[in-house]
Amino acid sequence: MIVRSVKLTNFRSHESFVLNCNPQTTTIIGENGCGKTSVLEAVYEAMQGKSFRAVDREILRRGKDFYRVELEYEDGRRVVVVFDGVKKEFLAEDKKSRRLPKKARYPIVLFEPDDLHLVGSSPVSRRGYFDRFFGQLSEKYAMALSRYNKALRQRNELLKEENLRQEDLFSWDILLTRYGVELMEGRRSYVEKINERFTEVYRSIAENDDEVALDYYSEVKSESEFLARLEKDFERDRLLGHTSYGVHHDNYEFIFNQVKADGSASRGEVRSSVLALKFIEAEMIMEIIRKRPVVLLDDVFSELDEIRQKCLVRNFQENQVILTSVGSKEDLTSCVVLKRM
Ligand SMILES: Nc1ncnc2c1ncn2[C@@H]1O[C@H](COP(=O)(O)OP(=O)(O)OP(=O)(O)O)[C@@H](O)[C@H]1O
Ligand SMILES: [Mg+2]
Repeated sequence: MIVRSVKLTNFRSHESFVLNCNPQTTTIIGENGCGKTSVLEAVYEAMQGKSFRAVDREILRRGKDFYRVELEYEDGRRVVVVFDGVKKEFLAEDKKSRRLPKKARYPIVLFEPDDLHLVGSSPVSRRGYFDRFFGQLSEKYAMALSRYNKALRQRNELLKEENLRQEDLFSWDILLTRYGVELMEGRRSYVEKINERFTEVYRSIAENDDEVALDYYSEVKSESEFLARLEKDFERDRLLGHTSYGVHHDNYEFIFNQVKADGSASRGEVRSSVLALKFIEAEMIMEIIRKRPVVLLDDVFSELDEIRQKCLVRNFQENQVILTSVGSKEDLTSCVVLKRM
């Protein structure tokens, strides 16, 4: 599906802004802080149902009492998002709802400068990255993640209460173990799938014979083991005031030629592997949910050398691409629409 236009009202710095999109590549050029990423954020919100970087209150333009995003697809379908300062509502296919319905959601491959630091970044940001990736591939995964996180928050709240008894945690422990194992299994099988293609795609970018792989680690082995461990750790968790064991500690690592990449891989190797991962993400979306993702590239061209830029353009030739780039003269109102390179 192709995005025809997106209209922002009171969305961050934009009081009112319309982006008309090219079916192939749309380039948004402007100075730092002129609101380029915000436009991608609005597109993402209307297609995925939530922002990739903030909560609604932060997005709402300061001093205003509502924001609105209206996205129109090429076939005339529209999605409208309205946040009134308290709650958010979606209007899609003439129906109002508090969440963007699955049918109205559309996949996106988002590439931000921070992704280029994925290899050496914190386990938290890697988990966040892969959760977004896998959540788009499977509704079941996305649900398990949101239920796990909710159960974890509730359990951690209870752990801070004074007269807590171990049995008060039981129902939360059951939820944690059920959804935790679902996440662990999902992560393991998606990582396996990534690894089937990782080296080949990497080599096509880096033009060498290196081997790359993604390693996934979880302390959790099974529901019964997880449950037993939560029970065993009760006193400790109470002292700490949070849950110390679970899939919220999972980690991913990049491996170059059988060696952990963290710290040892070169900048170029890291960049090529992240690029490869993005290409695989688009491939997996196509294969699993049978939709061609829209690609949002936030300020990444300037971070890549010419060879990798060309790779990026070539690989996403068939996708609609909306990209931002820092330019000193133009402002957002003179947003330029460039032809594919
Ligand atoms: N809720 C808000 N209300 C008003 N302005 C906001 C709000 N949130 C962010 N801003 C402003 O919007 C601008 C940031 O927008 P954005 O991140 O989209 O810019 P950008 O063009 O991507 O910048 P850069 O090139 O540095 O990445 C900043 O000037 C920021 O102060
Ligand atoms: Mg930006």
